[in-house]
Amino acid sequence: MSISVIVRRSPNDTGTVIGLRLAQFIKEHPQARIGVATGSSPLPIYRTLAHEVDKGLDVSQVSWYALDEYAGLPSGHPQSYRFFLEKNLMDPMKANPDRLHTPDALSQDLHKSADRYEELLADSGGIDIQILGIGINGHIGFNEPGTPFDSLTHVGELTESTRLANSRFFGNLEDVPTLCLTQGLATIMRAKHIVLIAGGKNKASAIAGALLPPPKRALPASVLQNHPSTWFVIDEEAASQLDQSNKEVTGSDR
Ligand code: GLP
Repeated sequence: MSISVIVRRSPNDTGTVIGLRLAQFIKEHPQARIGVATGSSPLPIYRTLAHEVDKGLDVSQVSWYALDEYAGLPSGHPQSYRFFLEKNLMDPMKANPDRLHTPDALSQDLHKSADRYEELLADSGGIDIQILGIGINGHIGFNEPGTPFDSLTHVGELTESTRLANSRFFGNLEDVPTLCLTQGLATIMRAKHIVLIAGGKNKASAIAGALLPPPKRALPASVLQNHPSTWFVIDEEAASQLDQSNKEVTGSDR
């Protein structure tokens, strides 16, 4: 198993660790291609990056690629992932929104859109660092339990538990879309480096499951055990179901 686990006291601390490492990477690779996730977990990463930009970090040549998008939300909808990433990542960094790539989930033909996004990613030269969150059922992107490990960007159906978890952003469950476009697990696995951020007790069981060999389709994040360069940067609550031996095996750094 090659996943390294870094445990920090709070979600803010985990975000700072990742944000500073990303800033360093961008300094060394000004044309970096960074894969970006949505949800509340990565927000402290994006705040750290914006702070580094205020201090002089140049992100003008970086390309940003989203993991997924809800299907059918009108453009500019506050819960669309394009809107989320413009508001929480691009605007605070004062970055050109044209450098943010997202799948076209408004198209009449979502399957074609999925293929086009897969091609865009393949032609990009490859993601250098992919940021991931994790769902309480272990999903990454919108790859729900049961998604094949060899999946490419595709149209996905959200599980009831994911729609329920995400309904906190929409106000009510009926407004949460049922379909999405998401990078597949094989697409995500092509990134050179992957960093997964998680915080809170409700993520503890997904984190423990993701680290428990062997990888299994029932817990999509467990596919990351097969990746050569993956870090989990998690807070103490998210680490609460890992035993000490697990942390040692995975190289935990407290
Ligand atoms: C959504 C996103 C995932 C994200 C998950 C967890 O389902 N598609 O990429 O990891 O939410 O979100 P949060 O960090 O808010 O718990």
